[in-house]
Amino acid sequence: MKVNIVSRSGREFIKGGLELNDSATVADLQEAIHKRTKKFYPSRQRLTLPVQPGSKERPVVLHYKKSLKEYSDGNQNTLTVVFKDLGPQVSYRTLFFFEYLGPLLLYPVFYYFPVYQFFGYKGERVIHPVQTYALYYWCFHYFKRIMETFFVHRFSHATSPLSNVFRNCAYYWTFGSYIAYYVNHPLYTPVSDLQMKIGFGFGIVCQLANFYCHIILKNLRSADGSGGYQIPHGFLFNIVTCANYTTEIYQWLGFNIATQTVAGYVFLVVATSIMTNWALAKHRRLRKLFDGKDGRPKYPRRWVILPPFL
Ligand SMILES: NC(=O)c1ccc[n+]([C@@H]2O[C@H](COP(=O)([O-])OP(=O)(O)OC[C@H]3O[C@@H](n4cnc5c(N)ncnc54)[C@H](OP(=O)(O)O)[C@@H]3O)[C@@H](O)[C@H]2O)c1
Repeated sequence: MKVNIVSRSGREFIKGGLELNDSATVADLQEAIHKRTKKFYPSRQRLTLPVQPGSKERPVVLHYKKSLKEYSDGNQNTLTVVFKDLGPQVSYRTLFFFEYLGPLLLYPVFYYFPVYQFFGYKGERVIHPVQTYALYYWCFHYFKRIMETFFVHRFSHATSPLSNVFRNCAYYWTFGSYIAYYVNHPLYTPVSDLQMKIGFGFGIVCQLANFYCHIILKNLRSADGSGGYQIPHGFLFNIVTCANYTTEIYQWLGFNIATQTVAGYVFLVVATSIMTNWALAKHRRLRKLFDGKDGRPKYPRRWVILPPFL
């Protein structure tokens, strides 16, 4: 089979195209492109079918597991595909590891080291119990996330653009330092003992619930990440699509009840708005996939995320 590879502007991307055998898959084509170009390894490539000029339709993205014949539309001998460079890629595990490593390492710096001297505070620093518990709580949270990244989550996408590492690290590392600065500050005023216990107690319950939600999501896919998207059932998923985000938000609320800083609440608001947007997209995708037509199950009526009660 002859495969013509063109760029999005329609220019020939690989001179003379590529010749592959009739049983070749999209993955074989990606390997062949890599062999010819050296720079563009398979996860950097986005291959689509051409669309008519001026058409508003979204192009069909070629799935690496499928055979090229499935896309050749009756014409078995030639196929034209559009190549797009997705830029340098990193695995999802690498992305998550680096974004969570920052807060895990930076937070203790504010607790253990005399950083406030550099900000002009020369006096003795008295550490309140809530600051010590906050350190444990924070480190447990990010350690849990790293462990889940390596041992629980079954990602559907192998890689993410390298630029996301910088963007996500900027978000997590900056917020981590911002909150750590205020919670460990020498002029920090602790909340009452009861409020601290309620906050941390509630937060820990939510972190455990969040872990359980991730186990439920993990069991929707096989170990190699295949299985696509399924309807999650059980526990809080019976009432809310993104039970994982819901419990994540509440565990930050617990942390903030116990520590009570403006920085912490700012992070809570930003994180809630990010997760709300993602939850709306996930809810829409599940409703579209499970529309009750052609034998597919119908997605049950559920909240999207709580709060903000959508
Ligand atoms: N504080 C913050 O700002 C913030 C923001 C976002 C997330 N988080 C935390 O980080 C965790 C991970 O977040 P995330 O957004 O990367 O992932 P996620 O949506 O929580 O999903 C975790 C894993 O489950 C899979 N999954 C989700 N829904 C599924 C379904 N219906 N069927 C089969 N598999 C499904 C995902 O697959 P895919 O690989 O296909 O997605 C992913 O591998 C969250 O749960 C939350 O605790 C925090």
